[in-house]
Amino acid sequence: MNQQIEADAVVFDAYGTLFDVASTARRHAAKLGAHWASFADTWRRKQLEYTWIRTLMGNHLDFWHVTGDSLDYAMAVHGVTDLGLRAALMEQTLALDAFPDVKPALVRLRQALKKTVTLSNGTPSMLIAAISSAGLASLMEPPLSVESVGVFKPHPRVYQLAVDRLGLMPARICFVSANGWDAWAGASFGFKAIWINRAKAPLERLPGTLAAIVSSIGEIPDLLGA
Ligand code: LAC
Repeated sequence: MNQQIEADAVVFDAYGTLFDVASTARRHAAKLGAHWASFADTWRRKQLEYTWIRTLMGNHLDFWHVTGDSLDYAMAVHGVTDLGLRAALMEQTLALDAFPDVKPALVRLRQALKKTVTLSNGTPSMLIAAISSAGLASLMEPPLSVESVGVFKPHPRVYQLAVDRLGLMPARICFVSANGWDAWAGASFGFKAIWINRAKAPLERLPGTLAAIVSSIGEIPDLLGA
């Protein structure tokens, strides 16, 4: 049973949390064939792996190019060679579907005077494009991108960016991610972290104590008294 959470700001992860990363491959399911979901999964897993590996290597490359590298890997795995399809898939990462419960939750949080913002691996231009294409721009502060610190999540410097930009202590910030590792890392940093466990996955075995586990973003305003 989740307890009420006291916080002045709600910081959202972007990809997988606000935006459905599989929506690009789904739109091209006819061309990708029956394995479109497995293609989307390979692309996403490789994208995250490259962020972690590059951060450990001390060799940063922005998320747009990491997304392109991981797409090339997924195309190689699945024998996809259509360069027109590659261009379309990349282009549509700028206009991903937002999960349907995102907008109403943001409206309620803003009405309750909570600050709302995205903190993401994405580049500023990727984030601005996705947020405005989903019609969320008026409901959030300008996005916070790891490009300001030159390392990817879950490096603590990324989470510190929210503290610095919002001018709030970590304990006054509610951090929301559907990526379990990101939610645990946010909790470990000191945020009140909420994991959106849409897939009913098992708990991560990582340091950090979550403030709550929910199955949809729609549950979050109630938890914050909004
Ligand atoms: C992000 C990745 C973790 O948006 O999805 O930061």
